[in-house]
Amino acid sequence: MTLTETAAPCAPLPDEFIPLIVPQLRGNEWRYVKECLDTAWVSSVGSYVERFEQLVAQHAGTSYAVATVNGTAALHIALQVAGVRPDDEVLVSTLTFIAPVNAIRYVGAWPVFIDAEPEYWQMDPAGVADFLERRCQWKDGTLINRETGRHVTAIVPVHILGHPVDMDPILALARQFRLKVIEDATEGLGATYRNRPVGQFGDIGCFSFNGNKIITTGGGGMLVTNSAELAQRAKYLTTQAKDDPVEYIHGEVGYNYRLTNVQAAIGCGQIEQLADYIERKRRIAGIYDDAFRDLSGLRPMREATGAASTFWMYTVLVDEGTAGIGSRDLLRALWKRNIQSRPLWQPLHRSPAHRSAGSWDCPIADTISAHALSLPCSVGLTDFEQGRVIEEVRALLGSSGLVSAQAGGAA
Ligand SMILES: Cc1ncc(COP(=O)(O)O)c(C=O)c1O
Repeated sequence: MTLTETAAPCAPLPDEFIPLIVPQLRGNEWRYVKECLDTAWVSSVGSYVERFEQLVAQHAGTSYAVATVNGTAALHIALQVAGVRPDDEVLVSTLTFIAPVNAIRYVGAWPVFIDAEPEYWQMDPAGVADFLERRCQWKDGTLINRETGRHVTAIVPVHILGHPVDMDPILALARQFRLKVIEDATEGLGATYRNRPVGQFGDIGCFSFNGNKIITTGGGGMLVTNSAELAQRAKYLTTQAKDDPVEYIHGEVGYNYRLTNVQAAIGCGQIEQLADYIERKRRIAGIYDDAFRDLSGLRPMREATGAASTFWMYTVLVDEGTAGIGSRDLLRALWKRNIQSRPLWQPLHRSPAHRSAGSWDCPIADTISAHALSLPCSVGLTDFEQGRVIEEVRALLGSSGLVSAQAGGAA
């Protein structure tokens, strides 16, 4: 395969190939799905949907959960039920997958891009404070962006790569400036911040069960909250806003954003294994960390004090000057050796898709994005496979990347 080719649908991957991140479905998934097929409860109503909602709420430590067709839909509905309106402004991490920013545009609002902090690469609370304190003012009881005149109404911290955002200062600012908080926890299921699971800190939290997430339903999402009112409204909007299901009376424009019973059945099988998957991800991260410790050209992702990361996507920063190879050349070289890796996303303040949101200066996200590379980290990655990744990375960095060969520190 070449970098741009993909395998035929359902074709087994070549023997030697080590993918970046693939699901593992070895628990009760088959049994639960078979039950759906045997009973013909395959569509968007069924006991597995409710069961999966309960299990996710339990894991997130919230009172309610509403299943959705994917994480993007969960974010879209979350913004809507939180009361974000057209032409509002919403603070959001610039260093993230594009979905939360798209969701902000779906409701007609505008993103305010917040840079990453350099240590753990998450939304920088100092950047949030700077925007709110220096660039906004109160007018008639609402917070206004002085430059655009728009209302600033919400914040979407994104817990990227399985590591939590530093929530305490962000929650304090949200209280002070009366912002709704919608956590994009799509990459963070199972991660904790000060011993509490992410997703429960804001007004609403959103999860994704896309194929590359720590647990998957093939495609799927979930919105969690402690507010009965928000949960009820989210359920209403995700199920076509039906006021009278017999007479087909719809109170407003709703969405068909429901998860199917078959997908929820897979989710129930998957979530039973979540604790084991987190342990495996953390073990994989630990092995990489140990193996790369003497390479000054690589700086692995770190874990903040008070945070427990799932290390969902194990990522390193590659410093070309020290490593003797840049992140994109390393990606290409690994690909030639049948090992898949991936850069992080283009920071969204630079995205052509969101050019109309104005121009923003987010230098830390730019630097992280230029140097980052994610390495194979499926929960099913074998020691042998990981050993091969380590061996190839070390060989490609050569002696120039060794700590002893360089006076400088990590990338
Ligand atoms: C940070 C982030 N937000 C939102 C999403 C959207 O989730 P989904 O793909 O389930 O729509 C994803 C990933 O898929 C993501 O990584």
